[in-house]
Amino acid sequence: MAGPLADKHVVLGVTGSIACYKALDLASKLVQAGALVDVIMSHGATQFVTPLAFRSITHRAVVTDSFDPDSEYSVEHVALAQQADVIVIAPATVHCIAKLALGLADDSLTTTVVAARCPLVVAPAMDGNMYDHPTTQENLATLKERGVVIAGPGIGRFASGLSGVGRLLETPDLLGNISYAMGINGDLAGKTVVVSAGGTMEPIDPVRVITNHSSGKMGYSLAEAARDRGANVVLVTAPTNLTAPALIDVVQVNTAEEMRVAIQARTATTDALVMAAAVADYRPTKAEDQKIKKTEDDLNIPLSKTTDILKNATGNFVRVGFAAESQNLVANAKAKVEAKQLDLIVANDITAEGSGFGSDTNQVTLIDRDLGVEELPLLSKYDVSNRIWDRVKDFFRD
Ligand code: CTP
Repeated sequence: MAGPLADKHVVLGVTGSIACYKALDLASKLVQAGALVDVIMSHGATQFVTPLAFRSITHRAVVTDSFDPDSEYSVEHVALAQQADVIVIAPATVHCIAKLALGLADDSLTTTVVAARCPLVVAPAMDGNMYDHPTTQENLATLKERGVVIAGPGIGRFASGLSGVGRLLETPDLLGNISYAMGINGDLAGKTVVVSAGGTMEPIDPVRVITNHSSGKMGYSLAEAARDRGANVVLVTAPTNLTAPALIDVVQVNTAEEMRVAIQARTATTDALVMAAAVADYRPTKAEDQKIKKTEDDLNIPLSKTTDILKNATGNFVRVGFAAESQNLVANAKAKVEAKQLDLIVANDITAEGSGFGSDTNQVTLIDRDLGVEELPLLSKYDVSNRIWDRVKDFFRD
């Protein structure tokens, strides 16, 4: 199975909050992502959901008591702590956060945390006033200083009926925080990368646009894969149906020109620019102010060439382009390497099976600045992304 969580040992700590029901969904998504999930529940958590519910999802023993004589582990907290690639506490209560900040170890979860040396993610869930309380804020700051990843909390409505900051993050954001935490010291740590994604939208009039079939999945996967290897990621994205990935600086744009401006503003500080976006080559010369009425049988819309963002982006960074081709893949892509002065181009045949628009997989050919050709097999877009970052790493100008 592909992805950052495949075959990873995740300890999921669950403490007593009404948000415990969401931890079931998190456990389920972790398992679906290929992780081996060991759940440790506080006494409070067992009052909200049953250990059986977690066990049914993870197919593994659920720890609820430090002194379980039937435990399969000889010294449970040490065994779990040693195995863990990451510990995630979701939801984390005010009380649990305070114990972690003090280093208290009075139950299975907190003893496991103290015994472990892997990354720790803490996802607070509490009412707004409890979150705002100075002691909570101080305790969270202490944990952050120690390198703990504090996931969220989110903003919204609480079970109390009040609204504010303190909600447990939704599962996709929690997963993003977990992947980020595991890769925080990865081989792209300290690097900043700009990735573009999606198909630009060029207005014809207030209701119509010229766009293309790009789903944005390749660009979003590239951004997530870079984040999961420790990079600071800026994702400049044209409109897509995808949700903004966690811990990535997402810049929303519509047109090719807006994308150019957003990227140009960041070229001085980036170590790599990866243009996965399908940028319109032509835009309506003039976007009409009013809706075009249906009058003539034929309608001609004058188009003007857009600026080639990649070709005109100057600076000391690694330059990666994409070439979506329907014929003469390698020859066309090689021409683009030279025309746009690229370090690497990712060429894909949009007619090949499993590589079309919107697909979760892609089969690409990488061509580098020396025109060396590397044909990759059909892979998930996340795996393709990692193969691309493997190559980009070699081009970093230190
Ligand atoms: N690109 C860009 N700015 C544009 C058009 C394209 O930065 N105005 C980038 C794309 O994001 C991609 C690369 O250039 O990384 C190649 O895009 P592609 O559309 O395949 O090539 P073009 O140069 O536009 O040539 P053609 O459409 O004729 O194949």
